[in-house]
Amino acid sequence: MDFKLTEEHLMIRDAARDFAKTELLPGVIERDEKQEFPKEQVKKMGELGFLGMMVSPEYGGGGMDTVSYVLAMEEISKIDASASVVMSVNNSLVCWGLDHYGNEAQKEKYLTKLATGESIGAFCLSEPEAGSDATSQKTTAIDKGDHYVLNGTKNWITNGSTADYYIVIAQTDVEKKHRGINAFIVEKGWEGFEIGPKEQKLGIRGSDTHSLIFNDVKVPKENRIGEDGFGFKFAMKTLSGGRIGIAAQALGIASGAYELAKEYSKVRKAFGTEIMNHQAIAFKLADMHTSIEAARHLVMKAACDKDKGENYDLSGAMAKLFASKTAMDVAVEAVQVHGGNGYVKEYHVERLMRDAKITQIYEGTSEIQKIVISRSILRD
Ligand code: CAA
Repeated sequence: MDFKLTEEHLMIRDAARDFAKTELLPGVIERDEKQEFPKEQVKKMGELGFLGMMVSPEYGGGGMDTVSYVLAMEEISKIDASASVVMSVNNSLVCWGLDHYGNEAQKEKYLTKLATGESIGAFCLSEPEAGSDATSQKTTAIDKGDHYVLNGTKNWITNGSTADYYIVIAQTDVEKKHRGINAFIVEKGWEGFEIGPKEQKLGIRGSDTHSLIFNDVKVPKENRIGEDGFGFKFAMKTLSGGRIGIAAQALGIASGAYELAKEYSKVRKAFGTEIMNHQAIAFKLADMHTSIEAARHLVMKAACDKDKGENYDLSGAMAKLFASKTAMDVAVEAVQVHGGNGYVKEYHVERLMRDAKITQIYEGTSEIQKIVISRSILRD
């Protein structure tokens, strides 16, 4: 398969690379340490068009393809995976869903602000007892005529306190199981909507992750996305594309760790020579490079499938499964190449190793990707 990039793709990749080096790299260690959200940097990402890349230009987006998006995601993730998860959720889970399934009024009111980064979005599906088992939603939205009344708790929500608009998945008819689930746009500040405490995380510590509590929140009916009962399909379709973004994030973390290890191996000396001259190190770098190239092919295949209008459930799940394992494996090896220096913050690889783990967990664990893949291949 030929993944030849166009001039435009290369320009976008280079712009993201420059942005990551000049704006994200300074301060990335400190933000990780203090669990500080990259507020100024995310604002600039919006100004540069990185927060609504695939949204139609008529709603303020970049009108770009998925290949452009994964190229930018990889570059940002090489340096700062906390910033790239904000980008990923806003682009894939919030903007894409609204652009494809929102009505005209919802797009005018919400998408135009989200696509430019003037506002930030969050996607709220997970619950204390419904992470992988997404059909078991306990959050309810009861139909009261012209509005719904929303009650429940959502967990591990990315952009939990920084978002302005939240897409909330809730059960509207328990009898109908997953066909009685709907998706709603909820605004920060609505009565009864409370933001819970911030999670203390292992990695992506610059992103803000919270639980959200809804106590009799009145949601106007016009804020429901799609037909009654469309919520579960909406979530699944949105997550399918989201997985390509997270696969690109994982690829970025792996590439970032590999590049640091390669450079380090050229300057660090042991036993009278640069460590790259020892096969123990050179073979590690060979394995890392090979896995990254394989992951890149899967990510590009999934992005191209989406751009061509083909089904990307399978290719997206395979890309996420493989790229996230690659991120973890490569980051661990990058720490090993750095020896003692790999274990301290200033060399960056220990952070990349901590950040890598989440890519095997969010937007569907590796086990969930295997469910999606096995169902798909066994159905054929
Ligand atoms: N596209 C469209 N429809 C889909 C679909 C898809 N990709 N996948 C499933 N569906 C539909 C099915 O067709 C079915 O509909 P009908 O019954 O009407 O035909 C319905 O959804 C139920 O499908 P399943 O029977 O396959 O559902 P299931 O209960 O067996 O679960 C699952 C499938 C793949 C395991 C799903 O529950 C899943 O993806 N779970 C993981 C959820 C997840 O990714 N959570 C992450 C939270 S978000 C996050 O992490 C964001 C963040 O902050 C970074």
